[in-house]
This record gives sequence, structure tokens and C-alpha cells, in this order.
Amino acid sequence: MLVAPSILSADFGSLADDVKAICDAGCDLVHVDVMDGHFVPNLTIGPVVVEAVAKAASKPLDIHLMVQNNPFFVELFAPLQPDYISFHIEEEKHPHRLIQTIRDHGIKPAITLNPHTPPEAIEFLLEDLDMVLLMSVNPGFGGQRFIPSVLEKVRRLKAMIEKRNPHCLIEVDGGVNASNITLLAEAGVDVAVAGSYVFKHPEGVEKAIASLR
Ligand code: DX5
Ligand code: ZN
Repeated sequence: MLVAPSILSADFGSLADDVKAICDAGCDLVHVDVMDGHFVPNLTIGPVVVEAVAKAASKPLDIHLMVQNNPFFVELFAPLQPDYISFHIEEEKHPHRLIQTIRDHGIKPAITLNPHTPPEAIEFLLEDLDMVLLMSVNPGFGGQRFIPSVLEKVRRLKAMIEKRNPHCLIEVDGGVNASNITLLAEAGVDVAVAGSYVFKHPEGVEKAIASLR
């Protein structure tokens, strides 16, 4: 399983140091939450700050867009060449087109589903995707409680992926910690995002990442 700490819970006063710390501690991806204050009731960071994150990071970026105008934000972040860009299916009328645009930029396309969105909503997109991100909280904030029904959704999605595109990864984001990560792994999750668990761990980020593994 890959571990992708979410920098939303980092100390933004020393962001570069926090990014270096998670990379040195052996994370696999650096998860970056982009919020526009419209799709979700919170506002985070734009390309200027994410460029600084990319410079500090020795691991690839995983950009999670929580925005209304997806094509605009894809063009904004594509020059930073993250490994992945994911966009929410609830906010995209033309997902095939956007997937192609992301791929044309040399970036792996991923789609995110809110906790209530059934996996069938993206069944006919699976063969074009590198990853599906299942939210296990309502997006917008770190430190919320894990919604357990995502486990059943992971299993359903896993069966669909095996049939349609076995290379596609499953990522879960929200309330992930050392107590539920085993259940997630057993259900078929490939990438675990964790924000507050990693950055607020009393023994530091290295111990947190090690305990998730
Ligand atoms: C929530 C974000 C998450 C968040 C996770 O909208 O997408 O990436 O940072 O934080 P935790 O792990 O604290 O739930
Ligand atoms: Zn996220």
C-alpha cells in the first residue's frame, strides 16, 4: 500500500520543512488539497504555493482538486507536472474530455467520488483512469471522522476495476489512521491518504508513516 500524507494538516509557516520531513520519512506521494471556496466550504492553496511544495518534495505530487471549474484548475497546475491530478465527478459534465486533457499533459488522470456517490457513476470511465479516489469524509477539512460505508464501496469498486481495468488504483482519503488502515487494505485500497494522523502524531511524522505501513 502506498502512503500519501495530506499537507492540509502541515504547519504552513514551515511548509517546506514539513514536506521534506514526510519525504525523508519515506512517504510515496505528497497529497495536495486544492479547494476553491465554492465546491467545498474552504479555501486552500494555488499554484504559487504548490510550486514551492514541488520544489521541497523529493516524492511525486498527487493533486486533489475540490473546485468548480475543473478545466481551469487543470491548466493552472499541469505545468507543475504532478504524478496525478484528480477531479470530482460530482462537478464535471465532460469527464472523458478532461481525462484526455490531463493525459495530454503527461499526468495520470484520477477521479474522486464523494462519500454518497456510487461507484457505478464512473463505471464507464474506469478504463481511461489511473486511479479512483474515494472520499471517506465530506471534502473540505482535515481531522473529520472516517465514514465506514466506504469499505463496502471499495469492495464494489475493486470488483468493477478487476473486470474493466486492473491497473487502476484505489485511493481513500479522510479519517485514515492506524486503526482503520488494515480494513482498508483488506478491502482493496492501494493508496492511503492521511493528514491529521501524520502531522499531528505525538511522536512525529516518521513514526506516523511507519505505523501506517
Ligand atoms: C479533505 C481532504 C483530505 C484531508 C484529510 O477534504 O481531501 O485530504 O486533508 O485529512 P484527514 O486525514 O485529517 O482526514
Ligand atoms: Zn484530499
